[in-house]
Formats: sequence, C-alpha cells, structure tokens
Amino acid sequence: MTFPLRLTLNGQAREIVLDDPRVTLLDLLRERLGLTGAKKGCDRGQCGACTVLVDGRRINSCLTLAASLDGAEILTIEGLADGDRLHPVQAAFIAHDGFQCGFCTPGQIMSAVGLIREGQAGTDPERIREGMSGNLCRCGAYAGILEAVREASHDAADRTEQREDAA
Ligand code: FES
Ligand code: FES
Repeated sequence: MTFPLRLTLNGQAREIVLDDPRVTLLDLLRERLGLTGAKKGCDRGQCGACTVLVDGRRINSCLTLAASLDGAEILTIEGLADGDRLHPVQAAFIAHDGFQCGFCTPGQIMSAVGLIREGQAGTDPERIREGMSGNLCRCGAYAGILEAVREASHDAADRTEQREDAA
C-alpha cells in the first residue's frame, strides 16, 4: 500500500509516495530526500536537534508522521539561506560563536527562527531561554546561542519598524 504526499519543501512543490505510513518527517528528510541538516539526537522529542518549521511553526520532526503533513509547507535549515546570503539567524550564530561541534546547531537555528517569528520572546534573555528550552546543546554553547538569538530578534524588530515607517 502506498501513500501519496504533496509538500512544499524549502519553497519547492514536491510529490512523494510513502510506502510506510509510520515514517517520520525526520526519516523522510534524512533518508529519502537527502536533507541531513535536521539531526537525529534522541528520536523521542527530548533534544530539539530535529527541529524544522511546518507551516511556520516549530516542530520536532522525529515525532511527526510524514503522512500527516499532506499539503504542508516545510522549511528546513537547507532552505534558510538566500543563495550565498546567510539568513540573519545563521549569521548571528557565527558572529556570537553559538556552536561548538555543530550537531545541535541546525535545530537551534530553526527553533530560533520560529521563536522570532512567533514574536513572543523579543530580546528578553529569560524569555529567549524559555523559548529555546526544547533545544539542548551537549557542548554547552548556551551563552553564544542566547546572544545570537537576542541579536537576531533585535534586528528583526528593527526591520519590522523600518517597513512600518516606510509604509
Ligand atoms: S531527535 Fe527529535 S527531539 Fe531529539
Ligand atoms: S554545539 Fe555541540 S551539541 Fe551544541
């Protein structure tokens, strides 16, 4: 039995045929579609290394059945940069040393992008920490991660203000 699935993946329409209704989004991305940015840390929703955006919201792709996503829009770390131009959150992680080994970094960055889009945390350190608390870093690069998210959040707010002033 097969299951057809239509997705918009990193801006591109994709038609995929699943041969197993139990495959997770993480396994679909990594093993079928060659998108290995999202990492399999725990495979049980505890580390955040597999975070991607589905319809703009952060999810743990290891806990999400691909078959449940027909028609969804998925953004992974591979779709974040604009050609050679890094996304502001990616650039901020580099500027603030928001990583060491890099294993958790794609999930951290996608989570930060989602958090900033949610507009809940602003630049408040405690709220950012809470908003990013689902993403663990075994290297303990939390200080750099916090600064990166604060800067990116601040810059995103600035850009919004500029757009509103120009309107
Ligand atoms: S691999 Fe999904 S939360 Fe750890
Ligand atoms: S940078 Fe190594 S786990 Fe986070």
